[in-house]
Amino acid sequence: MKGILTKKVPLRGSVVIPGDKSITHRAIIFSALGKGMSEITGYLPSEDCERTITAFREMGISVVSEAKNGVPTLWVDGKGLSGLTEPSGVIDCGNSGTTLRLLAGLLAGQPFLSILTGDASLRSRPMRRVMEPLKRMGGELFSRRGEYAPLAISGRRLSAIDYEMPIPSAQVKSAILLAGLFAAGTTRIREPRQSRDHTERMLSYFGVPCKVAEGILSVAGGVSYPARKILVPGDLSSAAFFLVAGLIVEGSQMTLCRVGINPTRTGILDILQKMGAQIIIKPLTSDCCEPVADITVSTSALHGVAIEGETFLRAIDEFPILCIAAALAEGETVIHGAEELRVKESDRIATMARALGSMGVAVEEFPDGIKIIGGKKLKGAVCETRGDHRIAMAMAIAGLVAEGDIEMDDTSCIQTSFPTFESLLGELAGR
Ligand code: S3P
Repeated sequence: MKGILTKKVPLRGSVVIPGDKSITHRAIIFSALGKGMSEITGYLPSEDCERTITAFREMGISVVSEAKNGVPTLWVDGKGLSGLTEPSGVIDCGNSGTTLRLLAGLLAGQPFLSILTGDASLRSRPMRRVMEPLKRMGGELFSRRGEYAPLAISGRRLSAIDYEMPIPSAQVKSAILLAGLFAAGTTRIREPRQSRDHTERMLSYFGVPCKVAEGILSVAGGVSYPARKILVPGDLSSAAFFLVAGLIVEGSQMTLCRVGINPTRTGILDILQKMGAQIIIKPLTSDCCEPVADITVSTSALHGVAIEGETFLRAIDEFPILCIAAALAEGETVIHGAEELRVKESDRIATMARALGSMGVAVEEFPDGIKIIGGKKLKGAVCETRGDHRIAMAMAIAGLVAEGDIEMDDTSCIQTSFPTFESLLGELAGR
């Protein structure tokens, strides 16, 4: 990463942020299950999304990728709800929890056998949370020690359930909704707190009724639907790294164009504004199922805040970069209610606590969060990313303002969600 991330150069100008990862996965999945050719404009060409594309190709779906006027575009030739064929090999989901968990839901109701696996990180992440409701629907799923991938799924006829989710999780909710599409009856789900709702929005956009009434989400099984054009907004979780860079690098002002501002994802904007960030959000007309905006940020003096619960859930993937903002903010930032971070691509609480400590930041780790005493200069350090893309990008941003170099053991993991991270940052730095 050396040479591109020049220190202390103001970041100026405007960039288009690559497509949203969560929405790209869903766009591919629901296009494959629709009837006819769906066009997905602005999809995210990254390792995680490639895993979902490959999985559908292995199940007989044609997916063609092309840059249309320089915009990454996919054509997915959907064969309807009963159009998938048995994959002849194991489906490798790589590092992608969204691919594995959503496909588990979809595959539970297919008339064939499938096996899902992933890299060492994904094989150590909890899967009982998704298998449990699917088994209640009549699914036959097998795992290592009742918890870990590889998962073997022997497809069955499913029945709808009423399910009270023990934890809020968009991946689990989406897996149940996907299984619900193939189940007899109406599946009903109640979440303790609302997680991201991209699946619900996309189902409705494709014409499948997916309603929320009195906090209960319901979807009827067996509703087939035609292909559609989908426009994927920029990923706010990717934009977050540049937002924080713009705030902490002296003399910066940048605009991030056509970024998704789905309210279930905008916790990072609320938190940064509460910390004193100058951020201007200019909503744009949306031509698909998600709200979008241009976001302008300028260098700002930040102060520490306390973050919990609902706001944090809306910023769940932004913890690593939020830690960097907190380390540079005056005073204390305290985060609680974030125990889910222990089972993300890495244990993000432990990984960030260690990384911040090595940069000379005073931190206290809690089982469900962290306390960061900010306001001092960051020291150069050698950090372990644990193969976690968001840790690597957060540390790269810290490196823009640290007094010495931030060296990382592995930055190739950035390919999972943001392959153009370095080049776009270089553009903003005037390179
Ligand atoms: C995602 C849901 C969240 C999030 C992940 C992507 C999705 O995970 O952290 O990066 O696309 O549905 P959980 O469902 O485990 O909370």
